[in-house]
Amino acid sequence: MSKIIFVNQKIKSFKKSITVPGDKSLSIRWVLFASLASGTSVAKNLLMSEDVLSALEAVRKLGIKVVVKKKECKIFGKGINGYKYKKNLKIDAKNSGTLGRLILGLLVDSPEPIKLFGDKSLSSRDFKRVSDPLTKFGVKFKLRKNSFLPLKIYGSDKLKPIFYKENKGSAQCKSSIIFAGMRTEGVTKIKAKKSRNHTELMCKHLKLPIIIKNKKNFDEIQIKKVKKINTLNYNIPSDISSSAFFIVLTALSKNSKLIIKNVNINPSRVGIITILKKMGVKILFKNKKIYKGEKKADIKVLSAINLKAINCSPELNSGAIDEFLVIFLIAAKAKGISYFRNLDELNQKESPRLRWAEKILTLLGVKTITTNDSIKIYGNPNLNLDFNKKIIIKNYLKDHRVFMTSLIAALSFGGKWTIHDKDSVNTSFPNFLKIIEDLKK
Ligand code: S3P
Repeated sequence: MSKIIFVNQKIKSFKKSITVPGDKSLSIRWVLFASLASGTSVAKNLLMSEDVLSALEAVRKLGIKVVVKKKECKIFGKGINGYKYKKNLKIDAKNSGTLGRLILGLLVDSPEPIKLFGDKSLSSRDFKRVSDPLTKFGVKFKLRKNSFLPLKIYGSDKLKPIFYKENKGSAQCKSSIIFAGMRTEGVTKIKAKKSRNHTELMCKHLKLPIIIKNKKNFDEIQIKKVKKINTLNYNIPSDISSSAFFIVLTALSKNSKLIIKNVNINPSRVGIITILKKMGVKILFKNKKIYKGEKKADIKVLSAINLKAINCSPELNSGAIDEFLVIFLIAAKAKGISYFRNLDELNQKESPRLRWAEKILTLLGVKTITTNDSIKIYGNPNLNLDFNKKIIIKNYLKDHRVFMTSLIAALSFGGKWTIHDKDSVNTSFPNFLKIIEDLKK
C-alpha cells in the first residue's frame, strides 16, 4: 500500500540550523572500497537509506562481514581478492543505479556467473551503458532486451585493459570502468565527459595507481591494476542533493534563513548553487574545509526576494543532475522564461523526470514547453495556489525526488495536496519528513 501525505498549508517563516544525512554517492563508494580493503574500515554518518543498505547487503552476499551500529558501520575487508563467489549468486540492487552499475565493475573477474536485478524503476533503466565498456575488457553479459535488468555477468580471467570514451557524463559509467580497470593488468584509459569525481578522489586518497588530467570539458583518467587497498575510515559529510530541497524551500519561503551543516560541496556537485545564485538566491558557504580530498562547508541560505529567470548553460547540467526537479520550482516563481536544455539524461533517472517536471508545473498552473531534452518554464512571481485547489501526485515508479519535490511545492505555493508514496524517501533521505516537522516548530 502506498502511504499518503496530505498538505494544505504553506510553511511559516523559519530561522533554523539543520543537518541532513550523509552523502549517498560517498556512502555507496565507501562500502565498495571498504569491502576490498585489507582489514577493517569504519564509517561514521554513513547514509542509512535503502540504497546504501542494498550496497551493504550486496557485499555481504560476496562474503564480506558488515556490522551496523547506531553511530557507525564497520566493514571487515578481506583484501582485493577477498570476495567469495558462491554458485547461483544473486545481487539485488533494488532502486539503486549507483550500486547496480558500480558493482558490475568489481565483478569483472568473477569465476561464477552472477545475476543482478532490481526493482521496477531500476529495471526500466539502461544498463548497456556499463555492459558495453565492460564487454570490451572481455566480460560477457546477458541482459534483458540487450539493455535492461535482470542481467547475468560472466567474468573473465583474461581481462584486457581498454580505452573508452564516456560521452554521457555518467559518473556511474565512469566509476564502473575505473573499478574494472583496478582489476585488470595493464593501463585502462578513459576520456570522460565531466561528472562527479568521488571515485577518483577516493582512489587518490587511498594512493591507488590512478592518474587524472582535468581538461575543460572532459577528464582523462588512467588506472592500473590495484594490488592492495588500505582500510578507509570515513566520516561522511552531508548530501548536497538532500540539502537541495531545503535550500529551495528556504528561498521560496518568506523571512526565512537556514544553515545546513557540514555538506559535501565537491565542485562537481554544486551546480544547484551556481544556478540558484544566478537566479537571485542568496547562498553562502561558511567554515569551508577539505576532508580526504573532498570539499565541505556549512551552507547558509536566505529567502529570495526577486527571482530572475535563467537560460541555463548545459555545462551546469551534470553538477545539478539530481537537483533539477526542485530547481524548476525556483524557475516557477522567477520573473521571465527560464530555459533548461540538453537534459535527456534526466529521463534516465529513477523515473522520467522531465515528464514529471512538466506534470508538477502544469498542476501548479505554470506554463511549460517541454521536449524530450529541454524545458521552458514561464515563471510567475506571484505564484500562489488557492487553498481549495486539489492536487494529487501518484508516482508509479516511486521516485523519491518526485515525492520530495511535490512536498516542497505544496509547502511553498499552497493548495490542497495529496501526495502518494511517502515511503519513497527511504531511498535517499529517511528523516526528510522529520526535518520538515522540525522546521514547522
Ligand atoms: C551518481 C551519479 C549520477 C546521479 C546518481 C548518483 C553516482 O548518475 O544521478 O544519483 O553516485 O555516481 P549518472 O552517473 O547516471 O549520471
